[in-house]
Amino acid sequence: MRIINCHTYEAMSRKAADILAAQIQLKPNCVLGLATGTTPIGAYQGLIKKYESGSLDFSEVRTYNLDEYRGLTHEDPQSYHYFMNDQLFNHVNIDPANVHVPDGANTDADAACTDYDRMVAEAGYCDLQLLGIGRNGHIGFNEPADEFSKGTHCVDLTESTIEANSRLFEKEEDVPRQAYTMGTQTIMNARCILMVANGENKAQAVRDMCFGPIVPTCPASILQLHPNVFVVCDDAALSLCEGLY
Ligand code: PGA
Repeated sequence: MRIINCHTYEAMSRKAADILAAQIQLKPNCVLGLATGTTPIGAYQGLIKKYESGSLDFSEVRTYNLDEYRGLTHEDPQSYHYFMNDQLFNHVNIDPANVHVPDGANTDADAACTDYDRMVAEAGYCDLQLLGIGRNGHIGFNEPADEFSKGTHCVDLTESTIEANSRLFEKEEDVPRQAYTMGTQTIMNARCILMVANGENKAQAVRDMCFGPIVPTCPASILQLHPNVFVVCDDAALSLCEGLY
């Protein structure tokens, strides 16, 4: 794992945008795995700036998002598909046909997950997978569990995740209780992984991910087995890793 301390959220976001932009420039038809959440917003703003300045072309880029709430359509402002349109896709020249998010509107979980797995596999998996990390060490919606997940599957969200995500909903009761998520094996099939984490509330998860035992109770710890991972953080997220890297 290459741990990069960028000190601030702004510098972390610039670094993440630079890495994503370099991938697009080197392989214009690359497959990007993308993430929602508040952490990557700065990186997406950086990508939009690069596009606006003419240095980035998304016309051939293909994207596969990590996860989606079960039961929400892509038009629902709380859906992750809507979030991606709002934060990135509506502002760059990506072809909507090249954008993929698990189909939350399909409440047949088996069909929705099998379809998504097939699409990611047919695309040859991700060249670069962007990830955030949950306070409990989740990646995508792969929550702490007894074993590492494999393909796309339907999960029951943990109380900690529901509470963390409730800030984006009017009331905690409004947060969906289930989601479709790429599994850890699908994530690990990416050729390169870019993890972004900021803030003190991520410090323990970042320490466990990078230096703890590789266990499914901290799903992100599996990334220690991946040969090509960049962990890009601010000071606060790395505050419990001092002297370890
Ligand atoms: P956040 O979420 O970026 O909103 O903190 C990250 C995650 O839960 O994966």
